[in-house]
Amino acid sequence: MTVHFIGAGPGAADLITLRGRDLIASCPVCLYAGSLVPLALLSHCPDGAKIINTAPLSLDEIIAEIQAAHEAGQDVARLHSGDLSVWSAMGEQLRRLRALGIPYDVTPGVPSFAAAAATLGAELTLPGVAQSVILTRTSGRASAMPEGETLENFARTGAVLAIHLSVHVLEDVVEKLTPYYGADCPVAVVWRASWPDQRVVRATLGSLQTAVGAEMERTALIMVGRSLDTEEFDESRLYAGDYDRRYRPVGTEPRFPEGTE
Ligand SMILES: C[S@@+](CC[C@H](N)C(=O)[O-])C[C@H]1O[C@@H](n2cnc3c(N)ncnc32)[C@H](O)[C@@H]1O
Repeated sequence: MTVHFIGAGPGAADLITLRGRDLIASCPVCLYAGSLVPLALLSHCPDGAKIINTAPLSLDEIIAEIQAAHEAGQDVARLHSGDLSVWSAMGEQLRRLRALGIPYDVTPGVPSFAAAAATLGAELTLPGVAQSVILTRTSGRASAMPEGETLENFARTGAVLAIHLSVHVLEDVVEKLTPYYGADCPVAVVWRASWPDQRVVRATLGSLQTAVGAEMERTALIMVGRSLDTEEFDESRLYAGDYDRRYRPVGTEPRFPEGTE
């Protein structure tokens, strides 16, 4: 018996890995994390599967469901939105399972920041503009931010920011970032990226709040950085005609002559 933690992707039902889909189809028990997991994914569950929405359950109750499946020798598909490596509450479940000696594995999913970047048609790491992306959030009722992980500290790096769980404090985010990025810095808010009702507002830090208006939906990412809207960037050296590399030797004395590994 194994608990399969599966990244369910950002919303579109076909943005799940083939492995994730096949695991769902093989498990007689499926626990899914509420409204952010697309319900269409549950159609992959086998007939008669026990399907449980864990949104109203406590951690103890979730673990009790897993233990019951374990005792019955039934594999469990455990679905969380996006990818499991960020803000999935997987860590605390894995710790309980390790203590109980219940086997598990993890299948990654498409994270929401990648879905938002795709919606924007943006490469976040444009050469000469930005080479780092910071996935972060602001503090919430359930989770305080560790000291040092402040928007101001991240802003000092100039990296692209993908700010989760924070659209309800947009005004504060804009106020903190503007001194570092400048009022003309491109930003975008992407609500429900990849869902049929996704919405996008592109603006600058200076114009964002007016552009967003009174939108209430909270499943959104705030993306901030110069690479979101510029034609002023370098071309990658990797594809430059004169760049000598293993798979495209160039010149009379290439570093990697053809046929070498
Ligand atoms: C609990 S976190 C889950 C993050 C998820 N594990 C991931 O890989 O992106 C929920 C937050 O992620 C962001 N989010 C999740 N899905 C999203 C989507 N489809 N579009 C925009 N933001 C999304 C929002 O900031 C939301 O408040």
